[in-house]
Amino acid sequence: MIESDRDLQLIERILELKRRRNAIILAHNYQLGEVQDIADFVGDSLELSQKAARTDSEVIVFCGVHFMAETASILCPEKRVLLPDIHAGCPMADMITADQLHRKKGEHPNARVVCYVNTTAEVKAESDVCCTSANAVRIVEGLNDAEEIIFVPDQYLGHYIMTRAGREMILWPGYCPTHVRILSQDIIRLRDEYPRAKVVVHPECRPEVIALADEATSTSGICRYARRDEVQQLIVGTEMGIIHRLRKENPGKRFIPISKQAICPNMKLITLEKILWSLQEMAPEVKVPEEIRLRAKAAVDRMLEFGYSSIHRGSHAE
Ligand code: 13P
Ligand code: SF4
Repeated sequence: MIESDRDLQLIERILELKRRRNAIILAHNYQLGEVQDIADFVGDSLELSQKAARTDSEVIVFCGVHFMAETASILCPEKRVLLPDIHAGCPMADMITADQLHRKKGEHPNARVVCYVNTTAEVKAESDVCCTSANAVRIVEGLNDAEEIIFVPDQYLGHYIMTRAGREMILWPGYCPTHVRILSQDIIRLRDEYPRAKVVVHPECRPEVIALADEATSTSGICRYARRDEVQQLIVGTEMGIIHRLRKENPGKRFIPISKQAICPNMKLITLEKILWSLQEMAPEVKVPEEIRLRAKAAVDRMLEFGYSSIHRGSHAE
């Protein structure tokens, strides 16, 4: 990408301030291209939480959505976690509250609760174990002694896990408003148009979309899939921001989004200007209250134990 003089000045000021503040910039794969380009690390939810847990920097500028910054705060209470736009939320995470989950647990007293990382800290605090799309199947497989499992809040990721892990779960009816825009009829049309292309989608997509894909995996899993030699043309079913990274890492390969409508407006709230402002003001800060943090951390820690081992085994942590 060719930056304008204005962008270059902005980037220089961000990098200078980042050094002075001893900050690290973490960006999700859906962030605007220019934000990904200045980040120290770009990744999926699992990788970003692992990076946050391990960094020596005193300040984490989280370029993503609120639950991601909260997860960093849960893991690193001694660090300052900045979310350059405090309104960058995740509508799916807001589809369940801690009270609602508490009531659901009351209906199923023997159930274990697995929460998707796309949840508030309060919901994580009510859960037994957290998961991301990169380790969800392995985590549920590891709960083979559980009588019942409640999975919140994404019904489609939940459905995907049930088919892969081969067990029933009680699903909360949440969904991602961005991923439901990805439709099976568009895959059928694009497969016709690009007969040699592979199809990869995110497991937040509807089951009929996942059924038509060659692979369903996390956002960084999609990036790894794209690097395979046999993949020269790739039809991609997830949020549009990932196309920037795919094209940057794979010059010469062709990437075709299934839906150009699949844009998460919250992810796009983070801009270079807001990152600079955030580093200047050291705000907005995301901090999880200690009582909630400790309970939520237990669920996130259990996930990270699975996450590390599954990455080393290189299986479902795609
Ligand atoms: P990943 O963990 O796969 O990056 O997904 C996060 C997300 O919000 C997808 O919509
Ligand atoms: Fe939430 Fe969907 Fe945006 Fe991911 S893409 S942050 S699940 S609304």
